[in-house]
Amino acid sequence: MTLANRPTVLVARAVFPEVLDKLRQHFELKTNPTDEDWSASELAANLQGCAGALTTGSQRIDDNLLAACPQLKVVANMAVGYNNFDLSAMVRHGVVGTNTPDVLTETTADFGFALVLATARRLTESEHFLRAGQWKRWAYDLFAGSEVHGSTLGILGMGRIGQGIARRGAHGFGMRVIYHNRSRLDAATEAECKAEYVSKADLLARADHLVLVLPYTPANHHTIGAAELKQMKPTANLINIARGGIVDDAALAQALRERQIAGAGLDVFEGEPAVHPDLLTLDNVVLTPHIASATVGTRKAMAHLAADNLIAFFTQGQALTRVV
Ligand code: DGY
Repeated sequence: MTLANRPTVLVARAVFPEVLDKLRQHFELKTNPTDEDWSASELAANLQGCAGALTTGSQRIDDNLLAACPQLKVVANMAVGYNNFDLSAMVRHGVVGTNTPDVLTETTADFGFALVLATARRLTESEHFLRAGQWKRWAYDLFAGSEVHGSTLGILGMGRIGQGIARRGAHGFGMRVIYHNRSRLDAATEAECKAEYVSKADLLARADHLVLVLPYTPANHHTIGAAELKQMKPTANLINIARGGIVDDAALAQALRERQIAGAGLDVFEGEPAVHPDLLTLDNVVLTPHIASATVGTRKAMAHLAADNLIAFFTQGQALTRVV
């Protein structure tokens, strides 16, 4: 690459200035000055003339977009999840897609565990009560929650992040860990995570805290709906740090309202950043704005890896963490 033939790359959302500086060493850069999520047509318009793009999970890369942007060769997602990619369309158009695995595993597992604790121990509900000036006296049952230590941790989706949560539960909190996954882990990994493979039905029936960490695909849309919620214990908590759409949020709100389950901790939502209005009215749910990977160090590592993917693709002909 010479200065004259540097590819143009679009950075579709704001990122760390140091990452923009790194990209400027290799590319002509176009950025999103407002950091608003562009509509599909705005994204296509901004991608004109671009050979690469750095995206987040909220820019959909599909057939229509790719047909409108024939110069596009590579899209680097600053996320481990890539359900915003239409993989078959990308294959058809010969566009490479990359994600940011590994760099966020432990941070995201920390947050999954934070939601287990916050939900079980009613952290946000009790803080709201205190801030509202309602705390008048100590009481034996004031915000009495459920145990975490020694209880049963269920994990649906036992990839790297699921394994990180399992290790925290088993080794840090003495929990029994059960999991369900498309494929069973090898014996050494199961032993390291102290995790027992069970059927989905067993997982739903036995977990005291059920954490969802599976990728979102059309096949697992509403993996947890009214029927699955009915199979859970009335004392159980559900944690979703995976993706909106894996849980039927309307059915969950109803189950929480009717105390079919005890509580939920949700970092992701169907149609986010919109949140199902019923969830906002309930006390027994902890709600956070898709921040499971949000530490400064991890977000920097994700942004650098996305940038490094673009640089490697254009300078070495091969991306680092390619998913399509
Ligand atoms: C991820 O990396 O997939 C996180 O959800 C951030 O989008």
